[in-house]
Amino acid sequence: MKYPPVHYHDYLGLDKILAAQHLKSDEYGKHAHDEMLFIVVHQTYELWFKQILFELNAVLKTFQQDQIAETEMGRACARLERVVAIQKMIINQIDVLETMTPLDFLDFRDMLYPASGFQSFQWRLIETKLGLRLGDRLSYNQAPFYKSLSEDQQKLMMETLDQDSLFDSVQKWLERTPFLQGENFNFWDSYKEAVTAMFQGDINTVQNNPRLSDEDKKKNIEGLQTALKSFDALFDEKAFEELRKNGQFRLSYKALHAALLIQIHRDQPILQTPFRIIQALLDIDEIMTTWRYRHALMAMRMLGQKIGTGGSSGHKYLAEATAKHKIFGDFFNLTTFFIPRSQVPALPKSVSAKMGFHY
Ligand code: HEM
Repeated sequence: MKYPPVHYHDYLGLDKILAAQHLKSDEYGKHAHDEMLFIVVHQTYELWFKQILFELNAVLKTFQQDQIAETEMGRACARLERVVAIQKMIINQIDVLETMTPLDFLDFRDMLYPASGFQSFQWRLIETKLGLRLGDRLSYNQAPFYKSLSEDQQKLMMETLDQDSLFDSVQKWLERTPFLQGENFNFWDSYKEAVTAMFQGDINTVQNNPRLSDEDKKKNIEGLQTALKSFDALFDEKAFEELRKNGQFRLSYKALHAALLIQIHRDQPILQTPFRIIQALLDIDEIMTTWRYRHALMAMRMLGQKIGTGGSSGHKYLAEATAKHKIFGDFFNLTTFFIPRSQVPALPKSVSAKMGFHY
């Protein structure tokens, strides 16, 4: 044999893992059967968080480069899709934990103060590495979130906050997207023409509709004009920057344009992996929100209006965090600027040849 034999038990460190369930209720001589489930579910979560961080760190390493080799993109994409698969699976662990009733929980809950998921360092790392900034967060007990961590963890968290997150690195990568402008081609000029023509067509249809009263026509046309106006954010950088300052967008103007080009022309072979990356980031954000929502409902179900063991307002804090703690919201809002495929301007041959790998 080329390598010394390995035993299943040792290889997986099972002595340590399987000996790491210490029930507080047993320590106090008041055995609570469901405390074992409570511990195992939390530990399993933390193991999956470890795997998610392992994948995110590898993806960040790829994206934090000034130039990314195409050969790395497929791998980075597959890793993000793995994160999505893990997230989908761990949401379902809430079903298992909810087989514990609130009364069963009360048998040992008082023994856990002030421990709380709020102190999960790995969870905070996931949020921060994805791109949740300090200023995006709700304040908690009038202190920044990292104050609940140990000193060593706080130091590491500060370093992580200082580094480019996945949001920052993806933004830089998007800003480098080629194809937006060529010798005789400006994607946005032709897109603007198509958008204007589309709305003008809709306005004509309303105007020529004999079944609409003059008043209805006026209302419909005003609605279409308002919708057309919303495209200002796309075509007018100054208008966009105003909205960005007010927090309506986080991505830069250039990155937003690139993300839209990738979505619209995703059928082009060269844009397929970038499209999958954007989809994976959308999925990650959406599933984080879904997890937050399910977790908030579980807290409501277990605690009602009681405060959390970590001292927050409980369900209220968690529900507010669900609404606020989002990272890739711009990718969701992009659909505002979609137009039907049939109206999207064709790409010049020189551009589509490059996108389609024609030689
Ligand atoms: C009986 C089940 C659970 C209840 C009642 C519950 C309740 C709460 C409450 C009330 C908070 C807000 C902080 C506080 O005041 O303590 C919180 C935070 C948190 N919990 Fe849970 N939790 C439960 C299970 C879990 C599980 C299984 C996980 C998995 C790791 C988890 C992870 C977290 C995280 C990460 C936070 C911080 C959320 C944030 O600040 O956005 N919780 N939990």
